[in-house]
Amino acid sequence: MKTIPAKMHNSISWAIFTGLAALFLFQGVPVRSGDATFPKAMDNVTVRQGESATLRCTIDNRVTRVAWLNRSTILYAGNDKWCLDPRVVLLSNTQTQYSIEIQNVDVYDEGPYTCSVQTDNHPKTSRVHLIVQVSPKIVEISSDISINEGNNISLTCIATGRPEPTVTWRHISPKAVGFVSEDEYLEIQGITREQSGDYECSASNDVAAPVVRRVKVTVNYPPYISEAKGTGVPVGQKGTLQCEASAVPSAEFQWYKDDKRLVEGKKGVKVENRPFLSKLIFFNVSEHDYGNYTCVASNKLGHTNASLTLFELNEPTSSTLLQEVKTTALTPWKGIHPIVHETFPSSGNSAKVCLHLCLIPHTLPVDWL
Ligand SMILES: *[C@@H]1O[C@H](CO)[C@@H](O)[C@H](O)[C@H]1NC(C)=O
Ligand SMILES: *[C@@H]1O[C@H](CO)[C@@H](O)[C@H](O)[C@H]1NC(C)=O
Ligand SMILES: *[C@@H]1O[C@H](CO)[C@@H](O)[C@H](O)[C@H]1NC(C)=O
Ligand SMILES: *[C@@H]1O[C@H](CO)[C@@H](O)[C@H](O)[C@H]1NC(C)=O
Ligand SMILES: *[C@@H]1O[C@H](CO)[C@@H](O)[C@H](O)[C@H]1NC(C)=O
Ligand SMILES: *[C@@H]1O[C@H](CO)[C@@H](O)[C@H](O)[C@H]1NC(C)=O
Repeated sequence: MKTIPAKMHNSISWAIFTGLAALFLFQGVPVRSGDATFPKAMDNVTVRQGESATLRCTIDNRVTRVAWLNRSTILYAGNDKWCLDPRVVLLSNTQTQYSIEIQNVDVYDEGPYTCSVQTDNHPKTSRVHLIVQVSPKIVEISSDISINEGNNISLTCIATGRPEPTVTWRHISPKAVGFVSEDEYLEIQGITREQSGDYECSASNDVAAPVVRRVKVTVNYPPYISEAKGTGVPVGQKGTLQCEASAVPSAEFQWYKDDKRLVEGKKGVKVENRPFLSKLIFFNVSEHDYGNYTCVASNKLGHTNASLTLFELNEPTSSTLLQEVKTTALTPWKGIHPIVHETFPSSGNSAKVCLHLCLIPHTLPVDWL
């Protein structure tokens, strides 16, 4: 809040004085402000934008004339309205109180208002400041941003309000790390992948609840393979090699065997890709599938690779066991048998199909049997 310069203050006093002089046809006695005796205006009035403000002035029966002024403009003199503003209305004009109301207050109404009275032929004034509060509002905020790791970013959040709102930035996700800036500007130099996520700008003053807006910061970085483990599988079974990589944007995967790229659609082999994971699936492992494989993960920022081995596992018990389970489990339910024949050769997924069928007898409702 700016204070009124002395010069301006004097000119206001002078204007009030001349205004009153004209009003009361009175001359010669200097106007005194903040008199200990009547009139007594209330303390400063604080209202929110859009609300109504009541300006009250306590008087006594020696008072003969009364007026409320906005700076040097007379709003009301006695019961007479002097201003054109329809928002200004007279509330009461009694022997003890003279009050007006300003409706739908706006920021330009803020300032000094003066209650002026004439007592025993002496003009006296009392001043009250109307203070207008405005809820915080974010008027400008950075857009979501996508940036490469290591670069600098600057986020902006401009808010208005009265009193001036406090603006803070917080990093709220993936995990809340608390305040990062108690300022309209958030600068991050050499941003890291951990600093990606949602940032929240909050603007608060004590007038209303804080307002918040979010900005999403995406930090791009080249792929990093976090897991690539080899696996051992007996001949004739299903084997899966798995490669996990984190990257932003998500990595694209390619598989190589001994420097030869594996093309999609090779018989009995399938590549399954997800944003952070690639699986190389062998439906029916044969001798020549064993060996070293390379998983290459790449995005626009770079690529990396990892080697993993599909090795032979001698596990006679598991395959004979599987065979046993298959035959014993399937014989009693002839109705299901044809499905098995259809499924087996095409998918070759013996373990899965068997597991599925072996479980059915235990879960079948009685009326199925
Ligand atoms: C009323 O407001 C004015 C201007 O903001 C300030 O100078 C003055 O000290 C306030 N008076 C009281 C009693 O709060
Ligand atoms: C008070 O004076 C200011 C400045 O002239 C003006 O903008 C505002 O509308 C006035 N308010 C009332 C209620 O008269
Ligand atoms: C980031 O800011 C620092 C300090 O201002 C500057 O030295 C550096 O060159 C900036 N880096 C980039 C990528 O703009
Ligand atoms: C696979 O890689 C391992 C270790 O890198 C190596 O010892 C082995 O000889 C490789 N096998 C083949 C078939 O290339
Ligand atoms: C894997 O990375 C190494 C080292 O960067 C590189 O020499 C090799 O050519 C890469 N292999 C593949 C299949 O991209
Ligand atoms: C797997 O391949 C072998 C050899 O080609 C074949 O004999 C066997 O029937 C296949 N198994 C399945 C479940 O398809």
